[in-house]
Amino acid sequence: MNKVDTSFLHKDQFGQDFLWGVSTAAFQIEGAHDADGKGSSIWDVFTSQKGKIKNGHHALTACDFYNSYQNDIDLINELNIPNFRFSISWPRIMPTGTHPVNQGGIDYYNKIIDSLLASGIEPWITLYHWDLPHDLEVKGGWTNRESVSWFSEYVAVCAQYFGDRVKNWMVINEPSVFTGAGYFLGIHAPGKKGITNYLKAMHHVTLATAAGAKKLRNLIPDANIGTTFSCTHIEPFSQSPKDIEAAKRVDTLLNRTFIEPILGLGYPQADLPVLKKLNNYILEDDLNNLAFEFDFIGLQCYTREVVKSSLLIPYIGAELISAEKRNVIATDMGWEVYPPALYHVLKKFNSYNIKKIIITENGAAFPDILKNGKVYDIKRTHYIQDHLEQILKAKKDGYNVDGYFVWSLTDNFEWAEGYNARFGLIHVDFDTQQRTIKHSGLWFRDFLS
Ligand code: FCB
Repeated sequence: MNKVDTSFLHKDQFGQDFLWGVSTAAFQIEGAHDADGKGSSIWDVFTSQKGKIKNGHHALTACDFYNSYQNDIDLINELNIPNFRFSISWPRIMPTGTHPVNQGGIDYYNKIIDSLLASGIEPWITLYHWDLPHDLEVKGGWTNRESVSWFSEYVAVCAQYFGDRVKNWMVINEPSVFTGAGYFLGIHAPGKKGITNYLKAMHHVTLATAAGAKKLRNLIPDANIGTTFSCTHIEPFSQSPKDIEAAKRVDTLLNRTFIEPILGLGYPQADLPVLKKLNNYILEDDLNNLAFEFDFIGLQCYTREVVKSSLLIPYIGAELISAEKRNVIATDMGWEVYPPALYHVLKKFNSYNIKKIIITENGAAFPDILKNGKVYDIKRTHYIQDHLEQILKAKKDGYNVDGYFVWSLTDNFEWAEGYNARFGLIHVDFDTQQRTIKHSGLWFRDFLS
């Protein structure tokens, strides 16, 4: 790939109202897995099981954000980042998933919110970033239709305690990833497998997204309410009709299945026939209850996928050809570095009727080296710059995009990858919890100044 000259990048080119931020998630940073009355989440249980996480890593301490939050908030300030996205751990607020409320959890998030506001940083809360209370998983988790009311109950508590100060909310993070990895493939918590678990979880999560958003709207009428979707630019491996059809099915699964019902378009069953099985779980009024008019949609894009037809892969009849097999530059996650994906995704999602689009995650994992107190992560710096350039290109072409949040503030616990995949603007030594701002962080700081 030719290097793009991004030296001309300037914040003002994005407009005065463009939102700049950084994103995190509770389980990936907090640690303090049982502090102050917190209950277990499905990720606490999953990480304690042998062989689930690379190198046997766990998140008992993670980045110790629970205790060192003030230091990290000071760092956000130092980096001139005006918006901080973090998630609330449901089992900290409600250890068993439903009432009673744990005051220890409420106190903790109050401290975070107050500290952010005191520093002039706007809090953006994600209500669900994958850490379902384990007690609810025992009852079937997202495969149980009652999950919709469990979730609404939890959302109401968060709105009640934090809604006086927090304006910006995201209901659910990347439903397609946690249902696909956690309920179909079994490689993420809770480790369930199979099409039945997957489709049930899909439908209940989609219902819960709309139900949670409505709850927020009722309880905090002036809230800025969004939800986030993972998305990826899809290309066929060849121009053969089979590969083109396969690419269309993968595009339907990864980019359309979760957002279209929310937008009032129903599930895209015609383009992905396996979704017809959802009809077993869709009750009479459901289709009317799936839609919600969000103030913004958060898109999270990291790469593109190249797709080949394959009769061997059930339900989807398609295979993703990895970056390694294609011999292209990739990150530590094995994800191809392909900045134009962001442009294509923005173009695609602009064809929907969406009020505002914010890129709520984008970033890269590379093997960073701490040397003489410095981390020269030039690849990450370029990754971010090149993606910002694609945003500018999209804006020039008239596509709506209102903000950009980097994933992530610090290196953290990257789910099944453990601590190997480092995404931070700030390096973490996980033995000492020492933070070091990387070159990418320093560049972002100067860019935002
Ligand atoms: C997204 C997740 C986030 C992080 C990044 C790398 O899918 O939302 O928690 O793991 O990927």
